[in-house]
Amino acid sequence: MGAIISVVNEKGGVGKTTTTYNLSTALALKGYRVLMVDLDYQCSLTVSCGYVPDMKEFGSTNTTDLFEKKDPSEVEDSFFTIDSIEEFCKMHPGTPDITERLFLTPGTISMAEMENKMFINDKIRPQFIRNIQSLKPFFHYILVDCPPALNLPMTAALIASDGVLIPVKPEALDFYGLLALDRTIKTVQENLNPDLIVLGTILNLYRATVKSHNEYLIKLGADTERPLLGTVKETAIVTKGVEMGLPVVLNSPNSQPAKEFISIASTISEIQF
Ligand SMILES: Nc1ncnc2c1ncn2[C@@H]1O[C@H](COP(=O)(O)OP(=O)(O)OP(=O)(O)O)[C@@H](O)[C@H]1O
Ligand SMILES: [Mg+2]
Repeated sequence: MGAIISVVNEKGGVGKTTTTYNLSTALALKGYRVLMVDLDYQCSLTVSCGYVPDMKEFGSTNTTDLFEKKDPSEVEDSFFTIDSIEEFCKMHPGTPDITERLFLTPGTISMAEMENKMFINDKIRPQFIRNIQSLKPFFHYILVDCPPALNLPMTAALIASDGVLIPVKPEALDFYGLLALDRTIKTVQENLNPDLIVLGTILNLYRATVKSHNEYLIKLGADTERPLLGTVKETAIVTKGVEMGLPVVLNSPNSQPAKEFISIASTISEIQF
């Protein structure tokens, strides 16, 4: 039975999408079957995988199916293999072929309306929880790339999840935002999903030469409620692969951020859900 992990932080640009793509790929490289769900109407994860959101090839199949299909059996074909990774695996025969292990449920711009739809129709949330959980037997891990908001789709993801991962940026404003996120997670744990595990934080966009970054590192490392799973160095190479539809763990596997993502994926794979 797979584990659903939501990657959350209501603050924008902290690395939720980058973390989702890299950890998912690193877990697939380890031999696990992984599904990534793009829950954000910005569709950054879908674009990072080399796709244009709402493209014809997807048909009408995308993340909204998880919310709107009434019967879980109808969502089983809502995920796709990632063509750019298939190409990469063909061109680099030494790399484990993860084509049949890493999948994406593509985002769609219409996810922007889901907040309103969920507000009006209270059947949508239980449908989403049932549908995404119905996919657990097919995957070892399902990583959900959440939007930068404490909204209803994100809360539904937390209710459906086994674990929650929080990428953070070493900046004061990001730390204040974390207090609201903590309250949301606690509310979900106390009322709707007592089994939700806070897997921990990832200090992304970290530079060891910056004094304030190290102060945040010490602060996060001392947090007993949210274990610090690791740091990821701020490096231009992380963004570079996106143009080719590749995560840094494939594009530059020997770079420092790639090794850091791979190490965090190892830590996650040791957690018993
Ligand atoms: N370690 C890193 N080094 C350099 N650039 C990075 C790193 N992590 C993320 N980025 C870049 O920072 C930008 C924001 O990252 P990302 O899209 O993953 O954040 P996000 O939290 O998902 O944003 P949003 O809240 O808008 O969904 C992207 O251009 C990404 O390529
Ligand atoms: Mg994002």
